[in-house]
Amino acid sequence: MNVEGTHYRTIWLNDDGWSVDLIDQRWLPHEFRVENVRTVDGIATAIRDMWVRGAPLIGVSAAYGVAIRMREDPSDAALDAVWRDLHATRPTAINLRWALDEMSNLLCPLPEAERAAAAYARAARIANEDVDLNRSIGRHGLEIIRKIASTKKPGEPVNILTHCNAGWLATVDYGTATAPIYLAMEQDIPVHVYVDETRPRNQGAHLTAWEMAGHGVPHTLIVDNAGGHLMQRGKVDMVIVGTDRTTARGDVCNKIGTYLKALAAEDNGVPFYVALPSPTIDWTVQDGVKEIPIEERSGDEVSLVWGRNADGRVEQVRISPDATPAGNPAFDVTPARLVTGLITERGVTEASAQGLADLFPDRAKAAA
Ligand code: MRU
Repeated sequence: MNVEGTHYRTIWLNDDGWSVDLIDQRWLPHEFRVENVRTVDGIATAIRDMWVRGAPLIGVSAAYGVAIRMREDPSDAALDAVWRDLHATRPTAINLRWALDEMSNLLCPLPEAERAAAAYARAARIANEDVDLNRSIGRHGLEIIRKIASTKKPGEPVNILTHCNAGWLATVDYGTATAPIYLAMEQDIPVHVYVDETRPRNQGAHLTAWEMAGHGVPHTLIVDNAGGHLMQRGKVDMVIVGTDRTTARGDVCNKIGTYLKALAAEDNGVPFYVALPSPTIDWTVQDGVKEIPIEERSGDEVSLVWGRNADGRVEQVRISPDATPAGNPAFDVTPARLVTGLITERGVTEASAQGLADLFPDRAKAAA
């Protein structure tokens, strides 16, 4: 997507042909910084400390991490170690394991001399495929927005609520939940987006709001607790969120707070859609509440808040007493029964084992 007139992806190969440049998202919306990463440790830090974040982008970053390691040392031992080290960076988004498995399944049978080149080529393909998947998600999601626009809101904006950032910053480009919104804008279908701030890290306030402003999408930032109220007043026509891991039966794990939005949507008859590329489906698990590991992050993310002060400097301030401990579960699980539909690259389906198996029979069968 464009940043002040220049097209960017979130991650790309540096002109040197081997190191990786990425947008360091910790500074947005206040500063736009690009970092050059040259080591696997650097990639691991970028994922763990959330310079890059969002399930698809975490996967692509890890793929490039494997490529960097293979250039240094293409041995089996190095391949095993890089898989383990990168896999340990963040536990919830399944795209990380998916991308590492893709890399290792490709590289293992190859002679060592061929591994680095093959790894860079596969990492680039995973990145390009992500863009294609998101465009397809956009096309399918657009039809839902178009239908609401023509049947319920002729001549008025369709009000869409989203949580966290499942935008282009969470992927390589376009985003998942935002792809239908960007396409609706292109097609002059009026939309307005309610952006949940998404405590504690404020991915909505920092990142989704920045994306919406940058692309001229009418939007309003709201506190996380406002969604239910807005739904009761008929101010939300649909919810679209992303996901970090969706189970084979359609349970959706996403940023903490998503579940509460789904409950409020159900209570108010507001359609609740989840946009996801197929690498986000974990075919090995069924019950998301019992089986998905939920990342517990530092309590500092709850107690300390980043912002820009009156002098224009970006700094952190404490919002709770020094002695108060904070808990920080980073994700929650929305049961399939609360999900109106899953918007995938192959189309929209109900959130159920049958729905997913109908769209992806090959993968459902392989996992059975
Ligand atoms: O902790 P984050 O910022 O990596 O969490 C991101 C989300 O929860 C997104 O909604 C999800 O990864 C989908 S991104 C297309």
